[in-house]
Amino acid sequence: MTHEPLVLGIETSCDETGVGVVAGRRLLADALASSVDAHARFGGVVPEVASRAHLEALVPAVDRAVADAGVRLSDVDALAVTSGPGLAGALLVGVAAAKAYALALGRPLYGVNHLAAHVAVDQLEHGALPDPCVALLVSGGHSSLLLVPDVTHDVRPLGATVDDAAGEAFDKVARVLGLPFPGGPHIDRAAADGAADAVAFPRGLTGPRDAPYDFSFSGLKTAVARWVEAREAAGEPVPVADVAASFQEAVVDVLTAKAVRACREQGVGHLLVGGGVAANSRLRALAQARCEAAGIRLRVPRPGLCTDNGAMVAALGAEIVARGHAPSALDLPADSSMPVTSVLA
Ligand code: KG4
Ligand code: ZN
Repeated sequence: MTHEPLVLGIETSCDETGVGVVAGRRLLADALASSVDAHARFGGVVPEVASRAHLEALVPAVDRAVADAGVRLSDVDALAVTSGPGLAGALLVGVAAAKAYALALGRPLYGVNHLAAHVAVDQLEHGALPDPCVALLVSGGHSSLLLVPDVTHDVRPLGATVDDAAGEAFDKVARVLGLPFPGGPHIDRAAADGAADAVAFPRGLTGPRDAPYDFSFSGLKTAVARWVEAREAAGEPVPVADVAASFQEAVVDVLTAKAVRACREQGVGHLLVGGGVAANSRLRALAQARCEAAGIRLRVPRPGLCTDNGAMVAALGAEIVARGHAPSALDLPADSSMPVTSVLA
């Protein structure tokens, strides 16, 4: 292959049906269909509802992505699909469809890790990833600190959440505050009018004997709920903006402190922040300030590339193709608990 590989990527691990098309590190199309509205009244993603929505949205999304990219399906050099981790039934829809397209088109298929794809997507915006980099991945399903010597085959976990994911904490606290699902963007907006130091909420796992790179958000979530309940029991109004700002500060303080510490201790000069929570305005600002102070270069994709999408899968697939790694076998699984250390199924 002498030209930049044209790769179509399919993402169906949660509630976004994403289909992206890239040429090497250039983004050509990023079609997205979300079932988030169908889950809103349940306050969280309902797996069966997500799977059904993927079934309906996938083929139209592929058609739209190919049209937006100005290419034909037969031009595609390779396909990539999220093999895991994620919701089993949701993953299965994407993996089965990707196998069908690969077989029909006679093109290789790469089953890739969703977390590595969240890292690789940044190449579409900021060029080749420095090696190594530290990646802080924060979303509704995961919160991890990774050392990434090579996103195509060497991703090492440094730490992860021991309970709730960061986005899950945003969603649960939003519910306590009467804000809609998914709560992250609503807390972000509400916090803009509040004081981050209004309430001193706890910072989980920051004691001297705590695991330096692990996270815990469930104690924080409970602390917010108790604080709000106490106000309500006393018949006092809940200052939503102040609680949102103070909660948000507690989350991003810990995330950024641990990420910068990981860079320093691992001797790494670049931090990448990705996943849906990386869309948070305060996380982006505090990460920028702390990285600057520590002499670390920060890379954060634009918010639309931080939340789940197909472009990230295509981006990782294209990098894997460019490095000449062998494709996955056509019996590759949908692996709901795919470990972060396996980039390629
Ligand atoms: O990466 P993503 O789209 O899906 C998962 O893989 O989970 O992340 C979704 C999560 C949700 O929990 C949502 O509340 C959170 O990202 N999120 C935010 C913001 N935008 C999305 N959290 C905080 N601030 C935001 N601006
Ligand atoms: Zn994700």
